[in-house]
Amino acid sequence: MLKIRQKLFLALFALLSLGLLSPTLFINRSIDREVKEEITSTLLSHLKAFSLYLSQNNSLSITEIASDYSNATDLRITLIAKEGSVLGESGLNETQVSQMDNHLNRPEIQMADKETFGVATRYSSTLKKDYIYVAIKAESGPVFYIRAAQTLDFANSLISLRQSYQYRIIFLVSMVLVFFTFLVDRWVTSPIRRIAKVAEKIKTGDWSTRSQVKGTDEIADLSRSINDMADTLGTDIAQILKMSEVRSEFLINVTHELKTPIASISGYIETLLSGALEDEKVNRSFLKRSLKNTRRLEALVTDLVDISRIETGELTMNISQIDILPIIEELVRDASLRNDNEDIEIKINNTISDQVFVEADPDRIHQVFNNLISNAIRYTDKGQIVMNIESKGDRVHFSVRDTGVGINKDSIQRIFERFYRTQNARSRVKSGTGLGLSIVRHIIEAHGANIEVESEIDKGTTFSFELKKIDKI
Ligand SMILES: Nc1ncnc2c1ncn2[C@@H]1O[C@H](COP(=O)(O)OP(=O)(O)O)[C@@H](O)[C@H]1O
Ligand SMILES: [Mg+2]
Repeated sequence: MLKIRQKLFLALFALLSLGLLSPTLFINRSIDREVKEEITSTLLSHLKAFSLYLSQNNSLSITEIASDYSNATDLRITLIAKEGSVLGESGLNETQVSQMDNHLNRPEIQMADKETFGVATRYSSTLKKDYIYVAIKAESGPVFYIRAAQTLDFANSLISLRQSYQYRIIFLVSMVLVFFTFLVDRWVTSPIRRIAKVAEKIKTGDWSTRSQVKGTDEIADLSRSINDMADTLGTDIAQILKMSEVRSEFLINVTHELKTPIASISGYIETLLSGALEDEKVNRSFLKRSLKNTRRLEALVTDLVDISRIETGELTMNISQIDILPIIEELVRDASLRNDNEDIEIKINNTISDQVFVEADPDRIHQVFNNLISNAIRYTDKGQIVMNIESKGDRVHFSVRDTGVGINKDSIQRIFERFYRTQNARSRVKSGTGLGLSIVRHIIEAHGANIEVESEIDKGTTFSFELKKIDKI
């Protein structure tokens, strides 16, 4: 396969040959023809003048007449008889003339015999020069043909001068051609080679290489496209790698979280089977603990199902216009019933009215409040848990505020991550999956809102978000 440079050179060369050489050749030929025609017509006029001169002159011999005319015009004049013998030739004496060949078979004479005149160019071996011969019939006394001849010296020197110019021009243009091929190579081929090198590197997995080709032409566009492609693919691949890392971490966490309660349950059952079943005090407490672990497993699996539905995009929101107050009231009632810590008071602070209409998915919002209230109870020892509801422009502002342990600044960034639990939380309570808040955040974001958190260690924590308010249904 030819390289671009070679193809370009060939194309330019072909173009040049066609565009320069063929017109030159054509022009040369037509100029040559015209020069010849011009000389021929001059010679013809001379012949006519000479034939007139010949017919008018009776005092001189025909050889003298030819010489006279030849001297005056610098032409060779030849006088030929009907049968072809040369009667006179300017510049030659009688003896020399008598030795000349019969001229009847000369092409210009043959032609003059048939047509009005004859013309031929050839090398004269007598005079060692190129000559152009023109002949006509004269029919004056013994003379039947007169012929005039002129050297082609001048025409030939013109032609060779022209040729030398042409050679120089062709040489110059070829130099320019080579230079242009070199330039085009620099403009086109080298940048393409550089881009190809970058692409080759990217192919081998080096996503950080970028092409340096600059400018505004198509090659620079190509370079930019390849760079952009490398950017996108690079980030995509980085994301995929990160995702698979997150995924395997998630899997490790899930298996660990599942294993702990299962191991406890089987431990209790083993102990019961190996005799503790008989001891009424022990067996009840072991069964209770098993139940607690089963509940924990159940909660974990429920959260996992939600997480995987979020992942696959199956967890869609059925957003409708609802009165949210009954949902919160029911949750608070249940939480109060479940709460056995007398130091905690759970209450609602509603500053709107006895109906709070918002746009939301009732089941999912139930899940959000349930998670937030459970967290508040779990991480609070004493004080209040307040569900605050207030109007804020075209939105309703909800917050769940507790007077619990609080979350430190570093952890606040991470509590919405899957399985993340603060060190404090891990040592406080065994229950909890670390999945709740990540689900909460997803649901709130799917409602087109953001969940915010403010916290102070040992003072308490407030989670808040807003939903679109509906004035009346
Ligand atoms: N109201 C709160 N007060 C203090 N810490 C909290 C509160 N809510 C959440 N956290 C912290 O955020 C972590 C993540 O919460 P979450 O995802 O609901 O998991 P879980 O409740 O199962 O531990 C908790 O482990 C806890 O450290
Ligand atoms: Mg939770």
